[in-house]
Amino acid sequence: DQRPRVFSGIQPTADSFHLGNYLGALRNWVAMQETHDAFYCVVDQHAITMGHDPIALRNRTRISAAQLLALGLDPERCTLFVQSHVPEHAQLSWVLQCITGFGEASRMVQFKDKSAKSGQDGTTVGLFAYPILQAADILLYQADQVPVGEDQRQHLELTRDLAQRFNSRFGRTFNLPAAYILQDTAKIFDLQDPTAKMSKSSSSPAGIIDLLEDPARSAKKIKSAVTDTGREILYDEENKPGVSNLLTIFAALTTRTIDELLEQYDGRGYGDLKKDLADAVVGFVKPVQERTRAFLEDPGYLDKVLAVGAEKARAVAAPTLAEAYQHVGF
Ligand code: ADP
Ligand code: NA
Repeated sequence: DQRPRVFSGIQPTADSFHLGNYLGALRNWVAMQETHDAFYCVVDQHAITMGHDPIALRNRTRISAAQLLALGLDPERCTLFVQSHVPEHAQLSWVLQCITGFGEASRMVQFKDKSAKSGQDGTTVGLFAYPILQAADILLYQADQVPVGEDQRQHLELTRDLAQRFNSRFGRTFNLPAAYILQDTAKIFDLQDPTAKMSKSSSSPAGIIDLLEDPARSAKKIKSAVTDTGREILYDEENKPGVSNLLTIFAALTTRTIDELLEQYDGRGYGDLKKDLADAVVGFVKPVQERTRAFLEDPGYLDKVLAVGAEKARAVAAPTLAEAYQHVGF
């Protein structure tokens, strides 16, 4: 395969992905199957750093995999697997932890943010080491590219530093991955607070469209989205963040551009826009839900897909780990 290799992971931390996850990340996963040698991972080991419920985790891992298939990942065209099925991730992570400075890890902004919320006694060593496990995820596959949003840039820098350090200390082992700037990506904001991003940790469930929720509920959320003063439909992120967010979602879900939408809704009210967007959202999520349900109702098939994925992943990860072990003196 001559195509650039890409690695990306997503945590199984909710019962459903939300529209922001799809339009900001997963839609690109689907597209990159065509242009890249793509490795996609449900990172369940990252999902236990802050306390978790085992039954919920196991369910969410399966639901995540089923949704990824339903959204268009094709196990014939990408490698889709679950992190804990490939023991090399944890194994390489230990080696990398031993070449990471304590101060270096302490400077990770995401760790500082998350640990500040739980206090020192509520913070785990796993949360501290999280970016190092992430480095192992990427380096095991000799990835050329990693799609990253702003919040992950620092972690990718750490990954590159660790790869370089390992290579110069022990001998060339790891490819240096580059950030892959996604072309066609949309940042989606909370429907109730359009200055904050749509997130599973949002305070108001009315602000998030969960891909697996009742579509009638999604339609209602769109129709009661916070809009801005004035009546004109304009794209203006600063002064009209609510309407702009709806336009962004609408354009991302359809073949129309924002300019075409502005022309179409010229002189019409927010209500028309919301009604049509609600229809578009329902039209999108319904078949995704049907396919997700079908995958979940065929556990044998899902197990098989994930077992084959883990095997394909290990075919790359095991030789990388063996080389790293060899170089490090094991
Ligand atoms: P959440 O914010 O709900 O916890 P995650 O941090 O787990 O979501 O993000 C998973 C992926 O989805 C990441 O690639 C992230 O950039 C993307 N993503 C999450 N929320 C949004 C959003 N509101 N708009 C665009 N992309 C998003
Ligand atoms: Na579009």
